[in-house]
Amino acid sequence: MNSQKLSLRDLQVAHQRVLLRADFNVPLNDQGEIVDDTRILEALPTIHYLLEHQAKIILLSHLGRPNGSPQTRYSLAPVARHLTKLLGPIVNFVSDCVGPLVDQAVLTLQEGNVLLLENLRFHQEEEANDPAFARALAAGGDLYVNDAFGTAHRAHASTTGITAYLPQAAMGLLMEKEIQYLEGELNNPKRPFLVILGGSKVSDKIGVIQRLMQKADTFLIGGAMAYTFLRAQGIETSLSRVEADKIDLAKDLLVEAQERSIKFLLPLDCLAVQSIQAAVPTKNVPLTITAGVPEGWEGVDIGLETRLRYAQEIASAKTILWNGPVGIFEIPDFSGGTRSLAEAIAANRQALSIIGGGDSVTAVKQFGLASMMSFISTGGGASLELIEGKELPGIAALTPRFP
Ligand code: ADP
Ligand code: 3PG
Ligand code: MG
Repeated sequence: MNSQKLSLRDLQVAHQRVLLRADFNVPLNDQGEIVDDTRILEALPTIHYLLEHQAKIILLSHLGRPNGSPQTRYSLAPVARHLTKLLGPIVNFVSDCVGPLVDQAVLTLQEGNVLLLENLRFHQEEEANDPAFARALAAGGDLYVNDAFGTAHRAHASTTGITAYLPQAAMGLLMEKEIQYLEGELNNPKRPFLVILGGSKVSDKIGVIQRLMQKADTFLIGGAMAYTFLRAQGIETSLSRVEADKIDLAKDLLVEAQERSIKFLLPLDCLAVQSIQAAVPTKNVPLTITAGVPEGWEGVDIGLETRLRYAQEIASAKTILWNGPVGIFEIPDFSGGTRSLAEAIAANRQALSIIGGGDSVTAVKQFGLASMMSFISTGGGASLELIEGKELPGIAALTPRFP
């Protein structure tokens, strides 16, 4: 259903100004350097296609969640520098995404050149899907291509609203590849179908579980999300990250999993610390009703027993979908759980393994295990929602192939 849309290859792009929505939401370190450029590299086939077909490219993206105002640490300037390294001196950066600076740059934009506009989310109208803002974005282009698969689950001005103001809106090559793979391979998954969920975007992902229960046989829960479930079971989580307003939903999900006879595994133990930084004392603590996370401590990774238990499940799975690191893997001391699951997936040579999510992919790459996975998706929330069978707004808004 998601794939019945116009493709980049259907467009006549020569001499046209093409607005290309990409997802350059890449992880940056404290020095503002790009830690993992996967999402940029994955956008290159579409960019090269447009360059080869004599288009003028205007790149649009967000980075992080700056909440509607300009903030230097969320600037796309590092992405502009990286694109220049990858493409050569054909890339120009404009320090806003609408307004006179953009108008000027678009007027002088030549074929074979690329203009990257500043973070869309520096304007609150982007996430509000404001029609006037969408129209202003559209004004710079003749055609629209959406290659931001990772953002396809957001109905924002640059992903949905904008398409009303341009004659044609097509999928980019990355968007097409992701849809083909995720819709195709997971339509009828080989069983057991195992889902590993972790990460920090708890409120985003917890709702997904309910719908994925209709497809998956086993869930392994880790990361910050686990503590909301543990709290729902009455286990002490102390300073661990819990979303209080999701505890009731977590309770319902635990009941539903039981009713459906789904294996729904929560961590049996965790690695706890008193402050989140390298080289602090750590404790491996059991997570039971009588002995949870000690007062003043917080869970930052799954524990040793959990790693073994989860690895057992991974070994017998035939389809594995993983979204969200199970610990704060950016700090090497807390990356052991995420690494052990990545190794267990790599060791299972019969399973189809799909890794999604910016941070999960970064982790797997850091461990040098990316080539051992069947498919690396650039989408986190987007890939989960697609697999659930949802129509993604960023795809729905594109021009139908067979009107
Ligand atoms: P993805 O990008 O793969 O979709 P998310 O963005 O949801 O994943 O989450 C990744 C983040 O979750 C990482 O930055 C990681 O540090 C954080 N995280 C993992 N486990 C915990 C935890 N126990 N407490 C706090 N943050 C965590
Ligand atoms: C992502 O990283 O999942 C996408 O870029 C979307 O980002 P968002 O969750 O901040 O909307
Ligand atoms: Mg992330």
